[in-house]
Amino acid sequence: MTIDPASSQPSGKPRVVVLFGGRSSEHSVSCVTAAGVLEAIDHSKYDVVPVGIARNGQWSLASVDPEQWSLRSGSLPEVESGPETVVLSGEGGSRELVAHAPDSLPKSMGRVDVVLPLLHGPFGEDGTLQGMLEMADIRYVGAGVLASAVGMDKHYMKVVFAAAGLAVGPYEVITDRQWNRSPEECLSRVSGLAFPVFVKPARAGSSMGITRVTEASGLRPAIEAAREHDPKVIVEAGISGREIEVAVLQGRGNEDPRTSQPGEIAVRDGGHDWYDFEAKYVDGAAAELSCPADLPDDVTTRVRELAGVAFDAVGAEGLSRVDFFYTVDGELVINEINTMPGFTPISMYPQMWAKSGLPYTELIDELITLALERRTGLR
Ligand SMILES: Nc1ncnc2c1ncn2[C@@H]1O[C@H](COP(=O)(O)OP(=O)(O)O)[C@@H](O)[C@H]1O
Ligand SMILES: [Mg+2]
Repeated sequence: MTIDPASSQPSGKPRVVVLFGGRSSEHSVSCVTAAGVLEAIDHSKYDVVPVGIARNGQWSLASVDPEQWSLRSGSLPEVESGPETVVLSGEGGSRELVAHAPDSLPKSMGRVDVVLPLLHGPFGEDGTLQGMLEMADIRYVGAGVLASAVGMDKHYMKVVFAAAGLAVGPYEVITDRQWNRSPEECLSRVSGLAFPVFVKPARAGSSMGITRVTEASGLRPAIEAAREHDPKVIVEAGISGREIEVAVLQGRGNEDPRTSQPGEIAVRDGGHDWYDFEAKYVDGAAAELSCPADLPDDVTTRVRELAGVAFDAVGAEGLSRVDFFYTVDGELVINEINTMPGFTPISMYPQMWAKSGLPYTELIDELITLALERRTGLR
């Protein structure tokens, strides 16, 4: 590992900013992830600086105590905004955290070696934050600007996947302009897809704003609901198949991306027809996660290969979870790539790596090592 010695802190340990919360609807999910990471990260190896982003976008130094961000506190955790803020600055090659408080001069909080952005959704996972870090020449874990943007957008990721030869299901996109001009035209276009369809905000996550629609009368309200999250909407034909996921980790140096054993999400009967928000986070008994998924060997090999293809297709770095449907016809249809997948210790991504021989603390260590090794600027 090569770390610029001048960039290390007096302790000699790389200084890691753990960034969480954020402006998207997945704010609290991000806080819960931070709780897991703050608890598991090797504090003897890294100087950890937690920074929370409030829903209004304000950054501040946050508690290093995992309890404060965990679900154990009884309510959904939340980063509050306050009078004191911090910013990351790359001014003059400085790469530092700078604190701003009312009636006082800005104060340097020391250099930053790497940022671990545990943010989901727009303004965190979509390339905007990544662009800011690139501008400041600050290293960070995970995908860069383009891969983050493509991986956030359920429309463009399909365009890229199809071009890479991956099987994608039928879909229609409804932009804000198209809907404002003629909802009827949009509805007629969508009627070419067989029911059920899934109506989704193009750029969201955690199943937020998604509706499974079984008849034409449900389309308009579902599109309006998705538009609450994103003016751009995608409508997809429902794919009937098992949900199989693979965790991908960038290779060291010039090595290929590494893939985990595939996992499977099986939504149990009783209230949930699909993997909705409740099944993901609220109703613990609603879904069963298993890893390795019970698949024929050749399918396991193939799905891992395809996950690597998807990772490279969008130009991902660091980590990604790639999700597929395995249909009754034996086809592997790609659903999506998540460049910052759920990352609590019980989330699918860390679980799949744990089952593949890389426990949570070592996984965090590996991600930070990859980020410290990579150069800034064009790669
Ligand atoms: N085209 C589809 N066919 C069948 N099920 C789907 C389809 N799209 C989404 N789903 C179901 O909805 C869940 C959430 O959709 P997904 O596109 O993965 O959104 P998110 O980014 O919020 O996770 C999936 O895990 C799956 O259960
Ligand atoms: Mg998903």
